[in-house]
Amino acid sequence: LESVAYGGECIAHVEGRVLFADYGIPGEEVTVQIYEDRKDYLRGRVTAVHDPSPDRRAAPCVYFGHCGGCQWQHVAYERQLVLKTEIVREQLRRIGHFEDADVRPCLASPEEWGYRNQVRFTAKRRGDLGYISRYEKRFFRVDECLIAAPFTNQVLQQLQGQGAGLHQLQVRTSAQTGDYLIQPAFDGVDLPFETGQASYTERLGGRDFVVSASSFFQVNVPQAEQLARLAIEGLRPKAGDVVVDAYAGVGTLAALVAPLVSRVIAIEEAPAAVADSRLNLAGLDNVQMVLGKVEDVLPQLEDDVDGVLLDPPRQGCFPQVLQAVIEKRPRNLVYVSCDPSTLARDLRVLVDGGFLLQSVQPLDMFPQTYHIECVATLRG
Ligand SMILES: C[S@@+](CC[C@H](N)C(=O)[O-])C[C@H]1O[C@@H](n2cnc3c(N)ncnc32)[C@H](O)[C@@H]1O
Repeated sequence: LESVAYGGECIAHVEGRVLFADYGIPGEEVTVQIYEDRKDYLRGRVTAVHDPSPDRRAAPCVYFGHCGGCQWQHVAYERQLVLKTEIVREQLRRIGHFEDADVRPCLASPEEWGYRNQVRFTAKRRGDLGYISRYEKRFFRVDECLIAAPFTNQVLQQLQGQGAGLHQLQVRTSAQTGDYLIQPAFDGVDLPFETGQASYTERLGGRDFVVSASSFFQVNVPQAEQLARLAIEGLRPKAGDVVVDAYAGVGTLAALVAPLVSRVIAIEEAPAAVADSRLNLAGLDNVQMVLGKVEDVLPQLEDDVDGVLLDPPRQGCFPQVLQAVIEKRPRNLVYVSCDPSTLARDLRVLVDGGFLLQSVQPLDMFPQTYHIECVATLRG
């Protein structure tokens, strides 16, 4: 096994074809059982390790290898961070054609386990709660999830077997406030907690944020605090600045940057998140929250802006968003990304449009998985 791909698989070359192997570690010599055989590539999973990496460990979760959630529990945590840094460098090189971008070493998550504040369980007709398997895409019952918050596992213990009639069960909880949200409601079941709430309260950067059941909030809050700090540092906010917070969610970053600048224009398309943000931004009268799609709102914006913060979903930004940013040419541009491949694609457009890429800081928001968060800082 030579290197690692974005997706968590290891790459090897076999008789002129690329092989993607699940559950390996670069440097290992392994036996791989093939499950997909295509003309130019193969996919398989490691079934025996002949020459194990010193970073191989026993996966602590009984569902590991079967569950679709975690890919890397068999890899020592320090090595997971190294792999993530390598993936970001490789995506920037291959997709963005950045040969020598300043990609910093991936920052460790404060919590390696129990970090997820949000889990969606699938319910089976009989009432069992669980997840969907990686390969067969079939339901399986789960009695404990090691990356979920401890409260979520308590809820799971109480509600396991009682999900008859549901499709899904959403559990969200804040370790910082102790608040939680469980949807949908459970009737006729005697539980030590309430179910069926519309929203719950998170705390980040010393502020409370109301989050509705359908609104986005970062899943790993202590790490999201590091992310927010880096994003705001990258904006180099000054007292007179006008800043755009595009893809603003419930107003998290807008609320944290608002006290440092003259004005924030926040853009978000989800009505529930915008409704949450009205509560979260109360008292900050220099924030203007706009309900709409960034690709519609940003090109129409007439104000001169000093800083732009982009925090799009995995698909990245539409071309008209990047074009609008290039035309506005803010002094400071921060791109927060949860997908290094679309980040690399969009950074290339921004740099060709005149921005200077200063640095890319990967952060581990999702230990035990291949997912990677990055904060890229650019200057106009
Ligand atoms: C990765 S989240 C970032 C949220 C926020 N910045 C935070 O840190 O909590 C992306 C957000 O963009 C919103 N969104 C997705 N596509 C959008 C679009 N085209 N225009 C505006 N908002 C969009 C989603 O509803 C979601 O709230």
